[in-house]
Amino acid sequence: MHELTFGGLTIAYDHQVLQPRPWTAAQSVWASELLDQSPSGPVLELCAGVGHIGLAAIQDSNRDLVMVDFNPVAEHFAQHNAVVNAMAKRVEFRLARMEQALADDERFSLIIADPPWVRTTETSRFPADPVPAIDGGDDGLELARICVDLINQHLADGGSALLQLGTTDQVRLIAQHAQQLGAGAVAIHETKIFDDGVIVHLAR
Ligand SMILES: C[S@@+](CC[C@H](N)C(=O)[O-])C[C@H]1O[C@@H](n2cnc3c(N)ncnc32)[C@H](O)[C@@H]1O
Repeated sequence: MHELTFGGLTIAYDHQVLQPRPWTAAQSVWASELLDQSPSGPVLELCAGVGHIGLAAIQDSNRDLVMVDFNPVAEHFAQHNAVVNAMAKRVEFRLARMEQALADDERFSLIIADPPWVRTTETSRFPADPVPAIDGGDDGLELARICVDLINQHLADGGSALLQLGTTDQVRLIAQHAQQLGAGAVAIHETKIFDDGVIVHLAR
């Protein structure tokens, strides 16, 4: 087991999950800022891994957090990280494919999503990363599109979502996907570009 500090939290992980990436602390900071203006209700983290981004986002609030990931090793560490950082009572982990993890009528005030975004043919460029944690399918966006669909269905009125992507080209394609969801669907309101990835803010 390894440990690092992320957003002031002590986070455990091992080689069977994606190592927490320091730049993604920006997603937690942005999420906690949005949370101050979001309606009441729980936070959802899709593709949570060991849970550090969601935990850091809610640490200074009294919000509950639902984490979703299909990797049992990620669940083990996420539960451990929630306990060690004194947030276990506010955290529920759902070990499932995200497509099957939510009831139709569930709504969340803030949704954080960190899907894999590497093309299948390019995953060998990242030998230290477990393939299921980074493999985004043929064009890298298969899981990101599912995240947008789930955000569109489960975001509460007045809520916000922060989706992690790899490149600004991917942002353009995801914006097109959101547009195809029709009138009243979520759209990209702001994009922040970092050295190792991109975060977009989606809202209605
Ligand atoms: C890019 S990693 C992000 C993990 C963590 N949030 C982070 O930033 O380190 C993607 C995560 O999505 C999970 N995952 C991939 N496909 C999934 C699916 N269909 N349903 C649920 N989780 C999935 C993987 O197990 C992995 O933990």
